[in-house]
Amino acid sequence: MSSTLDLEFIQDFTHFEQHVAKLIHRAGWTVETAKPNQPGYDLIATKENLIVAVQVKWLKNNATAPQLLKFADFLDSNEGKKFNSGWFITTKGFGGPAIALIRSWNKDTKIRCGIALENKLVSVDGSIDIISDNHKQTPSDTNLSTKIYFGVFTCKGGVGKTTIAAHLAGALALQGFNVALVDLDPEENLQKLVGDGVFVPNPKGAGTNIQVFKADDWHEDSARDCQIVICDCSPALERNPPELVNRLNYCIIPTTLNPLGINKHGKVIQETVREIRQINKTAHLFVLVNNFKDPGVKRFRLLKQVYLSAYTEIRKTDNKFHCIDPEEVCIRASDLLYYWGIHILENPENPASRLAFDLIGGRCYPREDFINLADFIEREAGIGVLRSS
Ligand SMILES: Nc1ncnc2c1ncn2[C@@H]1O[C@H](COP(=O)(O)OP(=O)(O)O)[C@@H](O)[C@H]1O
Ligand SMILES: [Mg+2]
Repeated sequence: MSSTLDLEFIQDFTHFEQHVAKLIHRAGWTVETAKPNQPGYDLIATKENLIVAVQVKWLKNNATAPQLLKFADFLDSNEGKKFNSGWFITTKGFGGPAIALIRSWNKDTKIRCGIALENKLVSVDGSIDIISDNHKQTPSDTNLSTKIYFGVFTCKGGVGKTTIAAHLAGALALQGFNVALVDLDPEENLQKLVGDGVFVPNPKGAGTNIQVFKADDWHEDSARDCQIVICDCSPALERNPPELVNRLNYCIIPTTLNPLGINKHGKVIQETVREIRQINKTAHLFVLVNNFKDPGVKRFRLLKQVYLSAYTEIRKTDNKFHCIDPEEVCIRASDLLYYWGIHILENPENPASRLAFDLIGGRCYPREDFINLADFIEREAGIGVLRSS
């Protein structure tokens, strides 16, 4: 799996620290390194009467909430109080809990969290250039999109695209990301199902709402703070707006794992990949098994073998094509998802205002499966990076 880290030319902490110092210096700051073994910070940035403690984290994984809390405690300490701000700069990105923590801080907090890219530092939500002005948004007319676009596309109807788009959005929202849904399908099933927004119930908290846009209404400014955009696609590629298909950073390709359909589906996936690549050469593609019914260990092994071998040809020619191992992540067949979908017939006037994430008997398969998928994507696709395109 290729990493989305843009800094592959940097091999160690010292080089990364120098890189960060250079970026800060380029923005007009004076930068010094802290004395060796200085706890709390690595660099000191000064400009006019401002003094900033910079913590530099060279990490292979996302920065975690405890790492941020430690820096926040330092800034509150006597030693830390002399700084006007603290910048926490990392390599890869921030995990879900860390992002939730950052979102819980108000505007007065002294910490700014960011990621060092090759040419600039971007803040965790991508909207703020942390070194030039702490609070100013970057102008919307720059073409730098810091939003991550996901498509859910298979060139076949009824495989679960709409169901997956909505619930993946819900799971990412539960991980602390600010998510929007865009309905690209002229059939408008998603909007018929949920209207212009859907509630994500969270047994551990207050839950959250996700806005749903029509393709025509979607514009980068429609949801300014949103970090992740999920597009529910039409199975006929030509019916999706090509400029949005071109935008996709990642595409989830749902399929099923049924014995009689398995070879046919292999062809559908080949066709799907061929179609996407006509418009978008760079998106990472992930095949995901939906509507999974557990056939028992022995049969599952057999199915899995046939399933994976159906894609070896594609993998040979396309290094951004990935097949998610159904043993690691799949979406199980569930009554909850089935009933969520049947709402379109039972109650056409009244949108299904909430996702199928409510617990039954203390558990919820869709919730578990989609959180598992969201975790996988965050890990494998590195969405914590929220890099500029
Ligand atoms: N994992 C699942 N378990 C049960 N029913 C599902 C599951 N995934 C999808 N469905 C049902 O299958 C049907 C087709 O799903 P949908 O998301 O509309 O597919 P598509 O958007 O690809 O046409 C819907 O009735 C939906 O409720
Ligand atoms: Mg659909």
